Amino acid sequence: MTDDLRFDPTRYEEKTCTIGERTIRYRAWEGMPYCAAPLDPIQRINLFVPAAYYEGELPLGLALDEVPIFMPNTVGGYMPGPADEPRLDPHGSGPNSIFCALEHGYVVASAGVRGRTSGKVTTEFFEGSVGGTVSEATGRKVGRAPAFIVDYKAAIRWLRHNADVIPGCTERIVTNGTSAGGALSALAGATGNVADYEPYLRLIGAADERDDVFAASCYCPIHNLENADAAYEWLFCGHDDWHRTKHQRTPDGGFIRVPDDGVMRAEQAALSPLLKALFPAYVNGLSLGDEDDSPLTLDADGSGSFADWVKRWVIASAQRELDTHDNELNRAWLLVDGSQIDRQDYLRIVDGKVVDLDWDAFVSKITRMKATPAFDALDLGSPENEEFGDETVDGRHFSAFSFEHSAVPGAELADPAMVRLMNPVTHILEDNPGATKHWRIRHGSFDRDTSLAIPVILATLLKNRGFDVDFALPWGLPHSGDYDLPELFTWIDGLC
Ligand code: DHB
Repeated sequence: MTDDLRFDPTRYEEKTCTIGERTIRYRAWEGMPYCAAPLDPIQRINLFVPAAYYEGELPLGLALDEVPIFMPNTVGGYMPGPADEPRLDPHGSGPNSIFCALEHGYVVASAGVRGRTSGKVTTEFFEGSVGGTVSEATGRKVGRAPAFIVDYKAAIRWLRHNADVIPGCTERIVTNGTSAGGALSALAGATGNVADYEPYLRLIGAADERDDVFAASCYCPIHNLENADAAYEWLFCGHDDWHRTKHQRTPDGGFIRVPDDGVMRAEQAALSPLLKALFPAYVNGLSLGDEDDSPLTLDADGSGSFADWVKRWVIASAQRELDTHDNELNRAWLLVDGSQIDRQDYLRIVDGKVVDLDWDAFVSKITRMKATPAFDALDLGSPENEEFGDETVDGRHFSAFSFEHSAVPGAELADPAMVRLMNPVTHILEDNPGATKHWRIRHGSFDRDTSLAIPVILATLLKNRGFDVDFALPWGLPHSGDYDLPELFTWIDGLC
């Protein structure tokens, strides 16, 4: 029997990539199908290995079959995320994570995954995604939920299927992504080996292997979508002005950022307290606890120990920046204008210690980005509504609230089983035994694409359940990722 998914180690090219003063040399296996019955041309994987391993060197002091396989995705905005290669980061100030990981000594696997716009050409652009056209006009909208995680899993299974010949250690696969790509990384971490993805995996001819991973790195994961609207209004209720930045593509394949400001209309503002009122019951149902196991809860008005807990994470972030000025010194190109730590008059600092923070003034400072409902739009016009569509229904609601308040006659509510396949938090709550032990979660303290409560819930839940979690809200950073790769790599090396 022939094996369509067999990796051929002999079919590589030797490549070099130079960015500024930095050069890497590597072997590249590109464009390999990772599933036997692909539905979209994007379902291919690239594999890269530092040349040093073939020249008798061990850059990490590990034999090649012990080296972690770094697996970054290029998903943004729930759009398709094509397989990538070492190059300049379209969002960053230097080389992308693939370049940096190869330079560090990792094996890198970059798999292309379907997304909500698969099958049609679009000019949309989000953080985390790569530049250029991300989908072909095949006319087949085959990338809606849960396609992105199904594809990521299929690629993980392909690596395992070829474990005996693949360079790197398939028991040390580390996923990485930003925003919707961070959600994808979190899903890969949380849903390892969950049987409910099996029918979707079988449909695309994925290998019959385990799909759990070793560690998940998640930058500003836009996840927990069905609870994100309530979490957003818990944070921003009473703040009716919104401020966002639109990304517009330029003809050269890059993008420019265009500011876009406004104030919520009366009917949008009226939804805010209604959504906010839903959040305490959700938080209280999670049975979260702090480091001393004291319960983290919310009163009906949104105050309480959970609110204090989120504030503590922000204060810890401010303290770190006050002590080190790390982001101001090393990430000035990324830092939100006016977020320099020494200029925040809502912080109370005594003898170099951040002793308090005026929460309302902090929220006014970071500002709301989205009108109500932030994710499940009443007109079904959000990226997330499209994500919950399929080949016949273009978009769906995914929360009871927006379904009940829908402005679209005949609008549908996504099947709860589908919503479950898209939420990593649900699988942690269900104690999935295939969930990865190791988590690194970052969400900028000035990132308003989702509520600060959302990453705090994920990190706290994981800690409460005994997972190894490295969590921070880096000071002054906006919605972004891959800005601290040396620290990420140090964390990964420490796990090996
Ligand atoms: C992304 C950003 C959003 O604000 C959102 O709602 C979904 C995805 C992103 O950058 O991937």
